[in-house]
Amino acid sequence: STRKIAVLVGSLRRESFNRRLALALARLAPEQLEFDLLELGDLPLYNQDDDADQAASVKRLKAQIAAADGLLFVTPEYNRSIPGVLKNAIDHASRPYGKSAFPGKPAGVIGVSIGAIGTALAQQHLRNVLAYLDVPTLGQPEAFVQAKDGLFDDDGNIGADSRKFLQGWMDAYVKWVNLHAR
Ligand code: FNR
Repeated sequence: STRKIAVLVGSLRRESFNRRLALALARLAPEQLEFDLLELGDLPLYNQDDDADQAASVKRLKAQIAAADGLLFVTPEYNRSIPGVLKNAIDHASRPYGKSAFPGKPAGVIGVSIGAIGTALAQQHLRNVLAYLDVPTLGQPEAFVQAKDGLFDDDGNIGADSRKFLQGWMDAYVKWVNLHAR
């Protein structure tokens, strides 16, 4: 049966490496997985005053996460943590208290950056947040991807050097989603 994967990309940048990584990863998955990149750029800044009257964009985000069989977080590292754009989206979808969209949704955490440690610290911060939200995250393999020439080929697929490793990551992610499927 088809499984829906909600993809949260932590960058709004037009030429985002992380969005490109998300799109390329989706192509490594079996056809039964449907990947939907969620729009995070039109969410207001989270304000608890609005909990009783969430914006349409917030309701949409929550519905998309609630309907998903799995989550895929693909994020850059900003100043050794996750971008505010991603934290803002997570805060929205976790509220109001007791009405979080997250509990039990299996997730993968991955990211690409220019630096050599490839989003490792951002991923660790994100895992902390997701643990609190009762989102089981795939622990192994870890994937810290560095943006370098040849990461993507001309067609937007993962390039030859990283293909085997990221295919292995995706295979483990698919197993993780299936393991938690309800
Ligand atoms: C960065 N960048 C960055 N890289 C990194 O490896 N560790 C870091 O802590 C930071 N910090 C940081 C802060 C801010 C505000 C910006 C704008 C950038 C560089 C980052 O890896 C690079 O800009 C990536 O290209 C961002 O990902 P996208 O937008 O290409 O997906």
